[in-house]
Amino acid sequence: MSETAVATLIDGDVSAFTYGCDYNPEQWSAETWLEDARLMTDAGVTLVALNIFGWAQLEPVRGHYDFSALDAVIEILHEHGIGINLGTATASPPPWFSSDYPESLPMMADGTRRAFGGRQAFCPSSPAYREHALALVEKVAERYGAHPAVRLWHVSNEIGCHNAHCYCDTSAAAFREWLRARYESVDAVNDAWGTSFWSQRYASWEHIQTPRLTVSTGNPGQALDFMRFSSDELLAHFRAEKAVLQRHSAAPVTTNFMVTAHIRNQDYWSWAPHMDVIANDHYLDHRLGDARSELSFAADATRGLAGGRPWMLMEQATSAVNWQPLNLAKAPGQMIRNTLSHVARGADGISFFQWRASLAGSEKFHSAMLPHAGTDSSVWREVVELGRILEKLAEVTGSVVAAEVAMVFDWQAWWATDLDSHPSAEVRYLPQVHAVYNALLAAGVTVDIVAPGAPVDAYKLVIVPSLYSVTDAAARVLADYVAAGGHAVVTFFSGVVDEHDRVRPGGYPGAFRELLGVTSEEFVPVPRSAVLSLSDGQNAGLWSERLRLDGAEAVSTFTNGPVPGVPAVTRNTSGDGVAWYLATALDEPSLRATLVRAAAEAGVEVPVERDAGVEIVRRVGASGSWVFIINHTDAAFEYQTQGTEIITGAELGIRASATNEISKDGTLDVPAGGVRVVRESRTKK
Ligand code: GLA
Repeated sequence: MSETAVATLIDGDVSAFTYGCDYNPEQWSAETWLEDARLMTDAGVTLVALNIFGWAQLEPVRGHYDFSALDAVIEILHEHGIGINLGTATASPPPWFSSDYPESLPMMADGTRRAFGGRQAFCPSSPAYREHALALVEKVAERYGAHPAVRLWHVSNEIGCHNAHCYCDTSAAAFREWLRARYESVDAVNDAWGTSFWSQRYASWEHIQTPRLTVSTGNPGQALDFMRFSSDELLAHFRAEKAVLQRHSAAPVTTNFMVTAHIRNQDYWSWAPHMDVIANDHYLDHRLGDARSELSFAADATRGLAGGRPWMLMEQATSAVNWQPLNLAKAPGQMIRNTLSHVARGADGISFFQWRASLAGSEKFHSAMLPHAGTDSSVWREVVELGRILEKLAEVTGSVVAAEVAMVFDWQAWWATDLDSHPSAEVRYLPQVHAVYNALLAAGVTVDIVAPGAPVDAYKLVIVPSLYSVTDAAARVLADYVAAGGHAVVTFFSGVVDEHDRVRPGGYPGAFRELLGVTSEEFVPVPRSAVLSLSDGQNAGLWSERLRLDGAEAVSTFTNGPVPGVPAVTRNTSGDGVAWYLATALDEPSLRATLVRAAAEAGVEVPVERDAGVEIVRRVGASGSWVFIINHTDAAFEYQTQGTEIITGAELGIRASATNEISKDGTLDVPAGGVRVVRESRTKK
């Protein structure tokens, strides 16, 4: 990854947040463009994503290009001093393309094709799509590559949001090529996929297909490799567009990731090194139990993809979205609060989808910076207020988030864990990851999200939630870390299979057995309604194991359920370090208490008890440190500190002196629903 700093995109010499939006001027008249640019300036907008869905306007008829409207909009924005995050417009091919190349329409797992009429209606392996998309990118890059307003390139849009998996014959041929490169021989594929089972052994490459719907359960190895192939296929497309852009432009190139709970199609650990800037789109998902915690998790995971460096929030909503069953409007102050959670967790750029609410199309009820109601609206006033706050917070940009704890997270493990025919359909990867993350969040412990096998020596504690599939190499990194004195917590259904979804024999948790000093003979899941009681008074559910100690000590045992007397939580001294195993799904208070105990033992600074709805995160930079206190509760919160609160200008904990009339104690009042950011006068760890 190259080192383009988000905060220097607008003016290389001045560090500031980028603030902006997607703008779809194709939907508006030329008079509106002028009004929009003026209002953008009022709101403090500095970066606008343009031309995201522009293909039908730029190439209305095959091979005939018309750049006049885009030229005009770019000039208007440039004259207003607004930078451009220029889309390549390849996100959605126009009607003529689908009509000329019907075979490029994506095929579903049941063998039916999807029609034109939505967006992203193309097969990722379609040669026609690749050819026409790159021809368009060439034209766009030639025309605007050296334009001074273009600060960033935005390849396509949310790549693979709708069309990540295509099951057509073209995809099957590309899948076989991908398999050849990975395995070299059909026999190696057979071994990896375990095709001796159910008479599935392949004698020829030509017989291997995409995993279309089968009458019984399909082959899990095939399913996993197809997901890897599909992620690689779209990454290859991103790289092809990037290569064209780089021939014409020195501006950095990115695309907007979807690090979110409801889309898991791309292995972003493999995509991230190809981005010049890491950008994520995030929307509160009220279908989840805890939308606010998921926001923090997504922000931390995005920072992980950025290698700890600042990143950009490319899209969020000012208020409601349009694509959930019930689209909740944000409460007053919530948008600013949510935005500053992203900032606290490392975002140096904040953008929204979209600038002006559409009047037509399927997203007309999606909120925007400028709502249907216009500027006399609370959404607009909050948008303007946020612009002012980000200006005040400029000094924070470039700093990094301080974390002593790492949590391992993996898209490939997510795919593998959620395959069918497992011990319990109730055990899904993301809910287990979220449970661990939320317990730490509630305890006020900030975590970095890392890939399996990433170096973790800098952390005091590493947590590995339900990492069902793991490579030998990644398991070794954790074992070495603990041997050298690190502390680790591994939770149930981890280490079970290798990267091909082949079971590691000799007992569970396979790859981590030795590290944890336990062996499990059998998984014993329980119904969701069952409450498992533990000997130390804690409670759990979902899962138990026939576990025996092989060196570890039992921290607690089950006192009821199918395996009474069997260890539930264990602790093993391994080399110079300590490794805990949680062989069950502890309930929230029990999980929080156990993780806090492991963290404290590892020397992690655990904040004092406070309401879990108060989020406290510290960013640290060359010139100092800033603590964000985000109060999601209905009650005011008092925080003791010394320094200057940047949003209100309050001085805290500054002693009176002859020359300085300010005399305050260090009590900062963070109002209900409010956010305060303190430049600390003494840097804490
Ligand atoms: C995604 C897309 C946008 C828009 C929003 C709506 O983020 O990139 O084009 O559809 O969703 O929430």
